[in-house]
Amino acid sequence: MTARDTTGPTRDSQGLFVVLEGIDGAGTTTQTERLVRALRARSMRAQATREPTNGPIGTMIRQVLTGRIVVADERGPRAPDWPTMALLFAADRMDHLDADILPALRAGTLVVSDRYDHSSVAYQSASAQDPSSVRWIRELNARARRPDLTIVLDVPERVASQRRAARGERAELYEQSAFLQRLAGFYRVLDQHFPGEPIAHIDGDQPEDVVHAAVVAAVEPLLQNVHK
Ligand SMILES: Nc1ncnc2c1ncn2[C@@H]1O[C@H](COP(=O)(O)OP(=O)(O)OP(=O)(O)O)[C@@H](O)[C@H]1O
Ligand SMILES: [Mg+2]
Repeated sequence: MTARDTTGPTRDSQGLFVVLEGIDGAGTTTQTERLVRALRARSMRAQATREPTNGPIGTMIRQVLTGRIVVADERGPRAPDWPTMALLFAADRMDHLDADILPALRAGTLVVSDRYDHSSVAYQSASAQDPSSVRWIRELNARARRPDLTIVLDVPERVASQRRAARGERAELYEQSAFLQRLAGFYRVLDQHFPGEPIAHIDGDQPEDVVHAAVVAAVEPLLQNVHK
């Protein structure tokens, strides 16, 4: 059997890879699900997926986010430092591509991912509080297939935190106000860190239906290349 390079930038299918991004509470999960439903209603084969994944490494990451896995040292118990998190997220992403995204794209499916490596760059560099970390995190993800379109839902931290509060769940690792404010600023200028990539910004601080219509409008120009 010959090794097959599946992670290069070449398009090996009629599938389409769309990513939704934003801070916690921006509405990425809501809009991912709505987009997939809308595409299916148009008889397109579409699949929602998310990061961290439900796979073995993603499950481990979720246990870190909820405080079930900690580092126990003189500073602890605490979450692992950002380089450990960056490596875990990058490993989960390669597994996500290998196990889910690339097979679906090869089958001609439209894949919509709730978060991708933009989240790694945003969250881990905001944790590092060191802009030079961006380069290393991008390098870790250098073999991650680039999306055909990334949609950023821009929402002020205040709005996102109200939505999260209404959901009534316990705050996870990154869900702290000052951190998310920094993150919201990072997402507004995300394009600078992903030069040459198709990134669309949508004002996420609008009613869900209005945001959904804007998401569909952003994806629309790509749909004529997709086979039903
Ligand atoms: N445009 C909107 N206006 C008002 N509320 C919204 C809007 N979009 C989503 N919500 C609500 O806000 C909450 C957060 O939305 P959602 O779970 O989609 O965000 P998220 O970005 O996936 O958050 P997380 O990163 O924490 O998973 C949900 O309760 C959702 O119903
Ligand atoms: Mg979500």
